[in-house]
Amino acid sequence: MDNARVQLRRLDEDLTAALLDAAVADADPAEVMPAVPGPPGWTADRRAAFLAFHHEWAATPTTYAILVADRVVGAARLQPAPEAPDDALEAGLWIGRSHRGQGIGHAVVALLRAEAKSQGATRIVASTTETNTAAQRLLTTAGADLHHRPTPDPNGDTIKATLDVD
Ligand SMILES: CC(C)(COP(=O)(O)OP(=O)(O)OC[C@H]1O[C@@H](n2cnc3c(N)ncnc32)[C@H](O)[C@@H]1OP(=O)(O)O)[C@@H](O)C(=O)NCCC(=O)NCCS
Repeated sequence: MDNARVQLRRLDEDLTAALLDAAVADADPAEVMPAVPGPPGWTADRRAAFLAFHHEWAATPTTYAILVADRVVGAARLQPAPEAPDDALEAGLWIGRSHRGQGIGHAVVALLRAEAKSQGATRIVASTTETNTAAQRLLTTAGADLHHRPTPDPNGDTIKATLDVD
């Protein structure tokens, strides 16, 4: 991936609409938003909840659309977290399925690192699950320390990652 083609842009209302289109076309709801009861897939309730959820996020300066060659392909966030130490920001991201495995995740982590540093943080923390091999690879290659937290969940232990921004 040519990293220069990958950009983070602060989420606004227009980008939120484009993000919903990208999510519906290219991601499973469970990968990109909190659980909403009902049948599987992108039901009307889930689309409405996605917009409401991101509407709240768009009001904060910490949520970004991920663009590749000016097209929205996913989202990332970087925000203070109650559980995180004061010098850390918590990161999360998702990328549409058809764009995965091309190095976009690595490019986004580099951008989040630079953004965290510019905001005065010295560390980024992130969470994933034992079954999420791609996220663990992404974080390990970036140099993160990974710790298992035993969790009674079908996806296995929670994995807590800490990454220095330098
Ligand atoms: C996790 C995620 C962001 C990775 O993004 P990506 O653009 O595919 O990542 P990259 O192409 O930069 O690859 C990162 C690493 O994961 C590996 N990888 C990618 N897809 C993989 C897969 N399906 N299985 C195993 N490894 C995989 C790559 O080979 C690469 O390994 P390396 O570091 O040894 O080179 C993406 O899979 C995703 O959006 N998943 C759903 C949401 C999610 O899990 N978010 C993470 C929460 S922390």
